[in-house]
Amino acid sequence: MFRTQAAIVAPAAAVEQLPGEAHLLQNYARAPIAIVRGEGCELVDANGTRYLDMVAGIAVCALGHAHSAITEAVATQAATLVQASNLFYHEPAGTLANELARRSGLERVFFCNSGTEANEAAIKLARKLAFRKGETQRRTILACTGSFHGRTMGALAATENPHYHEGFEPLPGGFAFTPFNDVAALESAIDETTAAFIVEPVQGESGVKPASPEFLAAARRLCDAHGALLIFDEIQCGMGRLGTLFAFQTFGVRPDAVTMAKALANGLPIGAVLIDAKASRALQPGDHGTTFGGSPVPCAAALAHLRVRDASDFDAHVKAMGTLLRGGLAAIAERYPDVFEAPRGIGLMLGLPVRPPHAAKIFVDRARESHQLLLNAAGDNTLRFVPPLVIDEAQIEKSLSLFPILLKHTL
Ligand SMILES: Cc1ncc(COP(=O)(O)O)c(C=O)c1O
Repeated sequence: MFRTQAAIVAPAAAVEQLPGEAHLLQNYARAPIAIVRGEGCELVDANGTRYLDMVAGIAVCALGHAHSAITEAVATQAATLVQASNLFYHEPAGTLANELARRSGLERVFFCNSGTEANEAAIKLARKLAFRKGETQRRTILACTGSFHGRTMGALAATENPHYHEGFEPLPGGFAFTPFNDVAALESAIDETTAAFIVEPVQGESGVKPASPEFLAAARRLCDAHGALLIFDEIQCGMGRLGTLFAFQTFGVRPDAVTMAKALANGLPIGAVLIDAKASRALQPGDHGTTFGGSPVPCAAALAHLRVRDASDFDAHVKAMGTLLRGGLAAIAERYPDVFEAPRGIGLMLGLPVRPPHAAKIFVDRARESHQLLLNAAGDNTLRFVPPLVIDEAQIEKSLSLFPILLKHTL
């Protein structure tokens, strides 16, 4: 029997405290506030409370919230062309691919919609490249301990933390792990069966841990020696966060493929894989694709982002603000040695490790509730600082000045 429309309408709605609380899947530990607006480095909740945002949508809104250049680019593009499919060329994706290729020195760009999809595409690219070369033994995707590459099955299989795997097995086979920053272990791990080595130049989710320059240089040398593809996952640490447009420029090591997402379009959903000439013919028509990948609005936003970067010495600003924030965090760690370890990170991707029995999560909650400061906890009990890259001196000083009182109330 068919149910009437009335019968399938949800029961009378309870008065909701938070938008969607009753029906949004509870797969996120959301804080109990509803954000209605963003302005620069601040977010505003439904009660009108303003928060200083040191999270930036998790390393996304590099230019801050509601940047006028992004808003205008999105509005103009939305009024012109929103979707044409990948059956055709269009100007925003074409221009963005040209710009990313020119700036990176890599040859071709594949667009998708998120970070995990970018890594998924890079993994498929590496396997298909080996297949096309007739190297049937070359199947293994090698990743690092502490890695995070996303939540789809392939990207998840390249993510080492067992916590993310639990209950989702069996994961795809052909993935292996080598200790992060251990050159000797990498030497024995890469061989003729390695299709690709994928690495975050600065690990984000595991608690802001930079690769050593020697480790990345060794990765380049070993991938060359054994014919494996070197993939840098710059989804969190790229797009200016370290003080260079690409993280690989900070380390002076050129990978064969770079995956990007997060900050690329300053908040619009987009992912990208930048691919060196030696691998760019691996994927042929029909091999891989996505309906929305490279659609005009996110591409227009990403182009606007690049133009804003070009208009000032953006990287110098990131380096200066990163030095200021890091210095302040180091002073806090020195003042409270029982609570914090020395900060880690590069540019405006910084982590302040919290010593047990103290919990980073408690500081995050208390900072938001009592001090209107938005922080985030990552990995093994670390406070992660990934603010908008446009953050200024006064905002950094303000966030640092809140710490003594935050500690007084929390400890
Ligand atoms: C290094 C890294 N790779 C991949 C991902 C997955 O990106 P997304 O959440 O856009 O799928 C993330 C997300 O945090 C990340 O930090």
